[in-house]
Amino acid sequence: MKVLYLSPSGQLGGAERSLLDLLAGLREARPSWRCELIVSADGPLVARARDLGAIVTVLRMPASASRLGDSAQSSEGKGVGGLIETTARLAAGGAVMAGYSMKLRAAVRNAAPDIIHSNGFKMHVLAAWTCPRDSALVWHIRDYVSARPLMRRLMPLYARRCALAIANSDHVAADLIEACGELLRVVRIYNGVDAAKFSPRGPSLDLDQLAGLAPPPASIIKIGLLATMARWKGHRVFLHALAQIPAEIPIRGYVIGGPIYETSGSEERLDELRNLAAALGLGERVGFTGFVEEPSLAVRALDIVVHASTSPEPFGRVIAEAMASQKAVVVSRAGGAIELIREEEDALAFLPGDHAALAQQLMRLAADPELRARLAFRARRSALDRFDRRRAACEIVGIYESLSRPECVARDH
Ligand code: GLC
Repeated sequence: MKVLYLSPSGQLGGAERSLLDLLAGLREARPSWRCELIVSADGPLVARARDLGAIVTVLRMPASASRLGDSAQSSEGKGVGGLIETTARLAAGGAVMAGYSMKLRAAVRNAAPDIIHSNGFKMHVLAAWTCPRDSALVWHIRDYVSARPLMRRLMPLYARRCALAIANSDHVAADLIEACGELLRVVRIYNGVDAAKFSPRGPSLDLDQLAGLAPPPASIIKIGLLATMARWKGHRVFLHALAQIPAEIPIRGYVIGGPIYETSGSEERLDELRNLAAALGLGERVGFTGFVEEPSLAVRALDIVVHASTSPEPFGRVIAEAMASQKAVVVSRAGGAIELIREEEDALAFLPGDHAALAQQLMRLAADPELRARLAFRARRSALDRFDRRRAACEIVGIYESLSRPECVARDH
């Protein structure tokens, strides 16, 4: 079996980390399969995928096309203005995309895959344009298509070309069906995480040193927000919540992450967040570590992990990772994130954007080590049951085998 993955980013956000877990799981389940990956920009994903045995090609997408993703726009005005803006950007980027698709078509032909598995909106569309007749196309949908004005228009046009779509949560699956109609076959598969890596015991990072802060007293409770810098990940909500926790409660917050994606205007800037923290009088109560390559080491250093997305989170990989790492987790209650937890059993939750409610939950946890331990213990058990990457990989292997030409499967067994 030959599987060709297409990634519109070479960076290590949740979508790419999930792809790496899939590659690792696949290598374990079907070591003889040939996995190729075409990435549209160089970055740490490339070496990581190679380490997992994938044949990786960087097929560089010109900057004007890679900034065409409309995640930036989803937070801006809709209506006529939005439509005009979308059309203008589409026209500008469209020609470049067409040129890129010719190169991609040649690369795809060369790989002659049984399965093409695309891992991001731009690649879903490009894959539909370039997929040869005798390859089966699998879309791995990780975000809400309804939140992307451009993709909301494009995806239904190409849904017929897609043999099956994998959605990372029921919420994402429902949103996709709403956009593309019942004709598209959609299967929900939760992301898997490496429960051996995201585990309670092992080395951890010195977050204070990374953030340039003096070491805190041993009794300090460490609270972290680990996310890409997309605006909707709720960094500001986190900072406002920290500012509402009385000074006598021994906590320190950490903003863990740095800018990685290219979609213009959609990211928070660290200097602006630092200014906000200063304006809120947070001082040494919060630190900024910048991007960390190994999130498991950062999570392990924390007592509490906060997920604070202000828009419905499609899945929320960090939630699964923190649960597997046996941490007390506080989750913004919307979208796929709700599916991952049992509120008050294995995690706490609050309404998206409600920083006062987040502060309340953090104070509850800070005051009650027993509650933290109980939630954390159950979280690890839930994660082992539901987010083991071997399970996710097995389900996807089953899908590939059902879609590929029968002789491929026969050849492989
Ligand atoms: C996307 C989604 C995020 C999810 C990740 C992995 O980045 O926004 O919610 O965790 O993909 O599927």
